[in-house]
Amino acid sequence: MKQLFSQATLAIALLLNLTNAWDYTKNGTDWTDGICSDETKVQSPRDMYHNGTDWYTGLKTQFVFLPYNLTAVKPTKMEFENLIYTVYGNFGRLYAKEPANNDLTKIVKWDAMYMRFHYPAEHLVQSAQYDLEMQVYINDTASMSQGCLSGYGAIAVLFKVGLNDNPFFDWLTKTGDDQQIDLSTIFTPNTPLNNYISGYVGTDTIPPCTRFVCWYVIETPMEISQKQLDMFKTKDTPYNARKAQQGKDLTQRQLLNAQGLNVKA
Ligand SMILES: *[C@@H]1O[C@H](CO)[C@@H](O)[C@H](O)[C@H]1NC(C)=O
Ligand SMILES: *[C@@H]1O[C@H](CO)[C@@H](O)[C@H](O)[C@H]1NC(C)=O
Ligand SMILES: *[C@@H]1O[C@H](CO)[C@@H](O)[C@H](O)[C@H]1NC(C)=O
Ligand SMILES: *[C@@H]1O[C@H](CO)[C@@H](O)[C@H](O)[C@H]1NC(C)=O
Repeated sequence: MKQLFSQATLAIALLLNLTNAWDYTKNGTDWTDGICSDETKVQSPRDMYHNGTDWYTGLKTQFVFLPYNLTAVKPTKMEFENLIYTVYGNFGRLYAKEPANNDLTKIVKWDAMYMRFHYPAEHLVQSAQYDLEMQVYINDTASMSQGCLSGYGAIAVLFKVGLNDNPFFDWLTKTGDDQQIDLSTIFTPNTPLNNYISGYVGTDTIPPCTRFVCWYVIETPMEISQKQLDMFKTKDTPYNARKAQQGKDLTQRQLLNAQGLNVKA
């Protein structure tokens, strides 16, 4: 009897831990793994809605992302994982300044570890959904961040289909040692000047929707050609974006908007 009980317990434990098969046919609204269906938690992605009233003003320094040693790197692995094109490599490091009342010595060094590509974009900007979102997953290896306690974040870079190929994506058509990804063409010294960046602490956008991913959404979209976009699509999957989460609303304290130095709120 005791034996039977422990076997039953084990079976239940296995069931609970078992990651259900999941896909995007319902845009994630049917996911139940982890905290995916827990509406009391702030979940990702979100609509980065703001109406010009919620920017940091005054003496607080704005968000800034600057390239440190980003350079052309050959990825260590590139493949479809869970219906999402994912690229791994040591892509180098970004410097970041968080909006806070502190001096410029509080610089966060984020290591870019891997990228995931979602079509259409997962984060919305003022309710607009762009065509592709590149999520650059970053690690605060030196534990410098004051706004991101988990030390684990993602920068969402948005793309909109236009007429021209974006040279950043040249690696899609290259092979062997010519296949190099250079994030310094995305994050340039001008990135903080002309962009809105919104930050909040949410979740992973795939099951089990792990909490405390620090999101930084660069709101101005970049260009990609339709031909390039199509290379991120996997067979029989017309879209792989989780629906924007309504759930718990972000308070103003939870949402850190930053205004680029040259943009009007
Ligand atoms: C899922 O998202 C796609 C693309 O945004 C949309 O065309 C489709 O209608 C959505 N499906 C459901 C079930 O919401
Ligand atoms: C826009 O800002 C005002 C002032 O803070 C606020 O009352 C209002 O709810 C905001 N509108 C939306 C849609 O967020
Ligand atoms: C970037 O700098 C960090 C720290 O100095 C180092 O660990 C990393 O290997 C460098 N990456 C590249 C691509 O040079
Ligand atoms: C992030 O950096 C910390 C500190 O160096 C390290 O312990 C951790 O394994 C890293 N996380 C990932 C996902 O690489």
